[in-house]
Amino acid sequence: MKKLVLPLLLLCASGLTLGALALLYNLPLDTRDRSPAQPIPFSHKLHAGDYQIDCRFCHRHAESGPVAGIPDVALCRSCHEHIATEKATIVQLKGYWERAEPIPWLRLHQLPDHVYFTHVMHLRAQIDCRYCHGEVRTMVQMRRVASLKMGWCLNCHRDNQASIDCWTCHI
Ligand code: HEC
Ligand code: HEC
Ligand code: HEC
Ligand code: HEC
Ligand code: HEC
Repeated sequence: MKKLVLPLLLLCASGLTLGALALLYNLPLDTRDRSPAQPIPFSHKLHAGDYQIDCRFCHRHAESGPVAGIPDVALCRSCHEHIATEKATIVQLKGYWERAEPIPWLRLHQLPDHVYFTHVMHLRAQIDCRYCHGEVRTMVQMRRVASLKMGWCLNCHRDNQASIDCWTCHI
């Protein structure tokens, strides 16, 4: 009987270690929903993929401002006053511009305030949108692909000889 105790203990211990490891890898450390349903089912696949509307036509501040910007309903209206007007989703869209109400899009990318980031220097360095946002042209529902963790920024900065000084991103 005594002979069995040690192996059993070892078995328990290794089971615990494995269990702990499995937990560490599977814990939902990032609990934010990466692809929530939006108030209007806007499809990037349809607009940017099938109809090949340029990203910067809608996200026009990416090149200049601190944020890329989500287009306001006036831009949607410029097309949808004439396009697909009878579709239920466009009738819903029309409601927003008639009530002069912004569409309450849920934001998927948001860095903490202590991090400094702008699109401008990245676009100047010829980094395509897809390196950070994935194959947006194929997304029916927008999905965040980047973790937005510090390590994600640092890895690419190291690979491209960009600055990894703390002051670069934390001011
Ligand atoms: C016709 C206008 C339009 C075009 C073209 C367009 N987008 Fe968008 N984009 C939107 C709207 C509206 C949203 C907010 C709704 C959503 O997330 O689907 C959005 C959201 C996003 C977001 C998520 C923003 C956030 O943090 O919530 C990213 C990233 C993005 N677009 C990238 C792109 C890229 C890259 C392209 C080109 C391949 C592109 N978009 C083309 C209108 C457009
Ligand atoms: C440059 C023109 C253009 C702009 C700007 C534009 N769209 Fe569209 N949109 C289209 C076209 C073209 C279609 C496809 C219409 C069809 O299939 O009959 C479409 C289809 C849609 C549909 C699908 C309709 C359905 O149920 O089949 C939705 C929803 C939509 N757009 C929302 C938006 C929103 C929201 C915006 C503003 C952020 C926007 N669109 C801006 C051209 C545009
Ligand atoms: C080097 C990585 C990188 C590249 C390249 C990049 N983005 Fe972003 N994008 C981000 C990060 C990080 C955020 C979150 C910014 C924040 O929270 O301040 C973001 C946010 C956004 C948003 C959310 C709303 C906003 O106003 O910021 C949109 C839309 C967007 N990007 C579109 C684009 C488009 C279009 C391109 C290509 C022209 C592009 N991005 C290229 C990293 C990138
Ligand atoms: C896909 C690669 C990539 C990712 C991801 C990326 N960067 Fe960069 N970043 C660069 C490159 C390349 C440069 C250098 C541009 C240049 O020197 O012209 C740069 C430059 C910068 C600069 C300006 C540095 C300077 O010396 O002026 C800041 C600030 C910055 N990045 C912040 C961030 C932050 C914050 C993140 C993460 C949220 C991030 N970057 C993610 C590639 C990336
Ligand atoms: C290329 C951009 C970049 C550089 C360089 C960088 N960081 Fe960060 N850092 C980030 C981003 C993005 C976050 C937020 C995401 C996260 O918490 O992982 C962050 C978060 C942090 C946090 C966590 C703050 C909190 O609220 O949890 C600390 C601490 C930190 N950074 C310290 C540093 C130090 C020290 C250095 C220099 C050795 C440094 N960072 C360099 C981008 C950067």
